[in-house]
Amino acid sequence: MCGIVGYIGQKKAYPILIKGLQRLEYRGYDSAGVAMISTNGNLNVYKAKGKVADLETFCEDKDVSGSVGIAHTRWATHGEPNITNAHPHYSASGRLALIHNGIIENYATIKENLIARGIHFKSVTDTEVLVQLIEHIMLSNDLCILEAVQVALHQVIGAYAIAILDCEHPDTIICARQSSPLVVGLGEEGDFYLASDASPIAEYTDKVVYLNDGDIAVMQLGKDLIVVNTDNETQHPKVKLIDVTLGQLEKGGYPFFMLKEIFEQPNCIRDCMRGRINVEGNRITLSAVIDYREKLVNAHRIIIVACGTSWHAGLIGKQLIESLCRIPVEVEYASEFRYREPVIFHDDVVIAISQSGETADTLAAIELARRSGAFVFGVCNAIGASIPRQTQTGVYIHVGPEIGVASTKAFTGQVTVLSMLALCIANERCTITDNQYKEMVAELTRIPAKMEEALTTNEQIEHLSSIFTYAKNCLYLGRGYNYPVALEGALKLKEISYIHAEGYPAAEMKHGPIALIDSEMPVFVIATRDKLYEKVISNIQEVRARGGRVIALVTRGDEQIRNLANHVIELPDTFECFQPLIASIPLQLLAYHIAVCKGKDVDRPRNLAKSVTVE
Ligand code: F6R
Repeated sequence: MCGIVGYIGQKKAYPILIKGLQRLEYRGYDSAGVAMISTNGNLNVYKAKGKVADLETFCEDKDVSGSVGIAHTRWATHGEPNITNAHPHYSASGRLALIHNGIIENYATIKENLIARGIHFKSVTDTEVLVQLIEHIMLSNDLCILEAVQVALHQVIGAYAIAILDCEHPDTIICARQSSPLVVGLGEEGDFYLASDASPIAEYTDKVVYLNDGDIAVMQLGKDLIVVNTDNETQHPKVKLIDVTLGQLEKGGYPFFMLKEIFEQPNCIRDCMRGRINVEGNRITLSAVIDYREKLVNAHRIIIVACGTSWHAGLIGKQLIESLCRIPVEVEYASEFRYREPVIFHDDVVIAISQSGETADTLAAIELARRSGAFVFGVCNAIGASIPRQTQTGVYIHVGPEIGVASTKAFTGQVTVLSMLALCIANERCTITDNQYKEMVAELTRIPAKMEEALTTNEQIEHLSSIFTYAKNCLYLGRGYNYPVALEGALKLKEISYIHAEGYPAAEMKHGPIALIDSEMPVFVIATRDKLYEKVISNIQEVRARGGRVIALVTRGDEQIRNLANHVIELPDTFECFQPLIASIPLQLLAYHIAVCKGKDVDRPRNLAKSVTVE
């Protein structure tokens, strides 16, 4: 969703701000803008609808001087994507400029009050309300900008990450956070960087401060960072080191981040297991399980909360935990769970899964679970994000920054962590034998090499994809562990190629979707050898009997399905419960190549945001 960048120091601000916005493009946006205090003290605001490149074009003949500035990419919530609604927003007098990520829920009431006091609004955004409110408080009470921000934020309900420039104090940027992420980078020369996540900061410094909810940070030239709250109490956030490398933020020769990330998966999964699986490859150590053994091993029930792809990983986690640990597991969409008055017991364990660690609905589900006394465990990728900070413990998936909007390596990272977690708990509960445990751990260590093998299908899939670009609808079928793989395959295709696709448990097809089948609709069936293999063959026959075109993902050497399906994609064999780690790869590639054939911008699909920080 919206991205925030800021800089104050000795360098020219404009190139840093533009590069920062480019780094945040992956989050999804529809307009962009920048505010800078020029060398002659003017507060200049420039905005453009569309891409950051459009903003650059617009700025070509403008004054972009100065070493203090803030910039923003906007993903429209209140008001259509146009230049007027784009950020930064000026205050009525033109003295302040403000950018905002989040939603001010009581903006309408505040706006009404301000209008009654004669303040005129240009846009229909909730953000403009905030900047007008701050200026109104500042001028009518003769307060400094920091005091005005503190008073204003007491009146505001909602989520925000904001940054403000005041042209009467050109040596200062003020920012604040409540439920929307904000990171301050501490530069070598006393300069400060500001961003929604660490990616725009990583090339300048590795020292960062992740602001907490309620924090207001004052970045002033030549001074140390000051962090206070709305009651002006000094806060002491820790300085952390980020381990993001520049290479992780570049495409590295691939045409799109998504393709790079698909191909990174074998190494990402090695990173995910590194230090957790012993050198003999037969034992797993997760410190979270050691530290919270009692809670996890004695859980009567586990509830998994997540959204989108992370929810699909949760469905696989359910099967892993139920079959290996014999603990009942429920998987909930965080957005439904948070409003459903669910029954949560104090001995429940709630596992929150999120790549970004900032998904608003998942954060709200965590909050609800904690209030009900449940123990909350996070499975997250982004280091230092809100979810790992708001859960009692957890496991990072360690797959590196995921820039492609369509999640790929985070999904397999999540499934790997859930596999390790299930194996650890099962071992502690003795619900599997030591031999089973060791064999499964050993097989997990072989998964990266098998993923490499699965990636060799790339050329075949590229060729197949050109045949299926015509499709208006696609069906994805799978059973057992492969049912969530079908859901995930369908989601990938929808997201980046805009082809309607549905994932279905293969046997359920007879209860409705079979009516859709004709020669125009490709049916992708995940039909690897497992205990439901024969059943899936029957499902393929049902599709073929109705003229459907079947593309089957099979275990290498499967002649039976080769003779039945129109096309087969062969995959290396593995244990049934790890099959999703292999079978999801060709489906990611398929979605990617179909989208490329259709000329779509794979890394920036329309209407989507990488990090969904509003509900
Ligand atoms: C799909 C995708 C989304 C996310 C969802 C949750 O490719 O990326 O469905 O999985 O928005 O995001 P996180 O995992 O960051 O909570």
